[in-house]
Amino acid sequence: MSFRIQPTAPARPNRCQLFGPGSRPAIFEKMASSAADVINLDLEDSVAPDDKPEARKNIIQAIGDVDWGSKTLSVRINGLDTPFWYRDVVDLLEQASDRLDQIMIPKVGCAADIYAVDALVTAIETAKGRSRPISFEVIIESAAGIAHVEEIAAASPRLQAMSLGAADFAASMGMQTTGIGGTQENYYMIRDGQKHWSDPWHWAQAAIVAACRTHGVLPVDGPFGDFSDDDGYVAQARRSATLGMVGKWAIHPKQIALANEVFTPSAEAVAEAREILAAMETAKAEGAGATVYKGRLVDIASIKQAEVIVRQYEMITG
Ligand code: COA
Ligand code: MG
Repeated sequence: MSFRIQPTAPARPNRCQLFGPGSRPAIFEKMASSAADVINLDLEDSVAPDDKPEARKNIIQAIGDVDWGSKTLSVRINGLDTPFWYRDVVDLLEQASDRLDQIMIPKVGCAADIYAVDALVTAIETAKGRSRPISFEVIIESAAGIAHVEEIAAASPRLQAMSLGAADFAASMGMQTTGIGGTQENYYMIRDGQKHWSDPWHWAQAAIVAACRTHGVLPVDGPFGDFSDDDGYVAQARRSATLGMVGKWAIHPKQIALANEVFTPSAEAVAEAREILAAMETAKAEGAGATVYKGRLVDIASIKQAEVIVRQYEMITG
């Protein structure tokens, strides 16, 4: 292994990020009382251009007025290719209460995008004497974003999380789909005359997980558009969890429980992980580096795998 130790990602639950348009303040209280770990109030693509100033005001007021409990509170600003983003940052940093935890930067294409926002945020924080530094999260949702994913993951100590945004990503890549995540009808192989569907998001997800794990950032799966398809959502979320992602967005409240279920290690998985750790303790006491658990090899790497599950469970359940 490299002598450089892999940094750990922030130890906070991020199983579900619930989105809501900043132009729809009637749902803010409902978002706050939901079971989502992270709240994303949106100023970007769910808010029409003419509504941006009003949405900023709604969000700034709600950050101070609504009881967000222990949730991570994040606001998605507009992209750096728009005339809106600087006003989003200035107003949020100057006017919102210190309860605001995080800013989500969409459509990042290179590390300099984050540098630019960092410079502006740092200047305002210093000028205002803000008590807690704002953290960042980003969305990888363009060809440039995925091509530069590693430099983006390393761009700022403020960066805590990185999501895959399937819809904009598909558009930027020129993918022939209008679906937001999930199974794509035309992405299949033929074997013995039967279609077998594969996962067109797999490569981007794995690249995001690798970049995030290298730099101590939380990898997150983004939106699943068809909120009437629970099975499709769960299947997508399970694939993401298997690849190392820690959570998924909800664009409708009915997706929250699904994400929490998938991204909380199950009682069975935790019990098995603890048994593997116990089996390895016994092996170590006997001077062995490997042993047999339920008919299969477990060794020193199995300790690390089991610890991922136990640590995640203990962090979530406190
Ligand atoms: N957060 C919390 N509560 C929400 C909610 C959300 N994002 N979306 C809807 N609700 C509430 C509704 O107010 C309604 O509450 P009620 O039972 O007290 O009346 C209930 O959940 C059921 O809502 P429903 O009628 O099924 O949905 P809708 O038509 O009101 O809204 C969407 C559907 C998709 C427009 C809405 O969920 C939404 O705006 N989602 C987020 C979109 C977004 O932010 N996109 C950007 C990221 S991709
Ligand atoms: Mg997007």
